[in-house]
Amino acid sequence: MSKRTVEDIEVAGKRVLLRVDFNVPLNTDTGAIGDDSRIRASIPTIECLVDRRARLVVCSHLGRPKGKVVENLRMRPVAERLSKLIGRPVETASDCVGQDVEGKASVLREGDILMLENLRFHPEEESNDPQFAGKLAGLAEIYVNDAFGTAHRAHASTVGVAELLPAVAGFLMARELEVMGRLLHDPERPFACLIGGAKVSDKMKLLQNMLSKVDMMFVGGGMAATFLKTKGHEVGLSLMEEGMLGLAGRLLQEARKLDVQLLLPIDAVVAKEIRAGASTEVVPSSGIPGDTHIGDIGPDSIDLFCSKLTGCRTIIWNGPMGIYEMTEFAQGTKALAGFLATLSATTVIGGGSTAEAVHELGLVDRMSHVSTGGGASLKFLEGAVLPGVEVLLDKE
Ligand code: 3PG
Repeated sequence: MSKRTVEDIEVAGKRVLLRVDFNVPLNTDTGAIGDDSRIRASIPTIECLVDRRARLVVCSHLGRPKGKVVENLRMRPVAERLSKLIGRPVETASDCVGQDVEGKASVLREGDILMLENLRFHPEEESNDPQFAGKLAGLAEIYVNDAFGTAHRAHASTVGVAELLPAVAGFLMARELEVMGRLLHDPERPFACLIGGAKVSDKMKLLQNMLSKVDMMFVGGGMAATFLKTKGHEVGLSLMEEGMLGLAGRLLQEARKLDVQLLLPIDAVVAKEIRAGASTEVVPSSGIPGDTHIGDIGPDSIDLFCSKLTGCRTIIWNGPMGIYEMTEFAQGTKALAGFLATLSATTVIGGGSTAEAVHELGLVDRMSHVSTGGGASLKFLEGAVLPGVEVLLDKE
């Protein structure tokens, strides 16, 4: 990791502004926090700073309030959950900038923790407004970014403030960059990439970037339909992106040129309607009935993918193999997750819905790394420079 981290700076007695990504799922009816793994993931950084006697100001966004105060997107429940998890008080502020916060930040004692209100209640956060960034920077002497999940956003709390204070990475940020960076630059081989999700267009850049790095690529999920069509198969009523057929064809050609095995599903779970309780059928990829949609990869594809993955030393997985939210179409994702969990290879789960599935299946501890970044890990794997990372101080 070429960026400085919390280990490279002296924090005792100093006010530290810690940007975390505590954008946790909330139950829209009750406001209760669902999966709190993003909070847990930053605890090592928080504990390290507190143990080293920093005066800690924690900030995050929650949801997409679009520059306005949204009552059920306040940070208080998150602060309460953090407090419970670390067994220390976490004070909250009524805003993230202004007099109340400035007052509270100025009287923090060593080891105290103050959590700011949702950064995105102010439109200036997302527009990276210099004055807003200046106010945030005014709360502290050092900036630590542990919000890998938001590092692809050039916002005031991820970029603006880092230009004004000595800025280093937290442990979570450092680990994400190290694990994901190794995938791109120095993976143990054979290296395989398992890609799913609904649309080729969402994963186009990732497919292009990863193809030149892997030994094998597996395509599942709804996006497989576009690849199957390119190969001349009919895909019935499945979502097929006409505009992506050319790209899919070029990727298949490129794979042959690079000697990368690019595998598509050989069978599929199809249904006349994609809905819970729909009656399904397993058919070969070459025989998708015209009045059906592809909902999942089929059992022969699961066997094929698993047998090819055996022996791989590094595997990155981004995107479910089917419509995981519905039991009828969840088997491909479940089976692949279960299989990856048995391997001794380095298994990395790109964030977003793939990470959610692995969490739900209780398999997080059986993977080498489950990224906390959805959009951020996608951008990283596309080969993009993440603005929130670029701006951090380099190691000597
Ligand atoms: C995420 O959940 O991926 C991050 O918190 C970023 O959220 P955003 O997509 O609303 O910027």
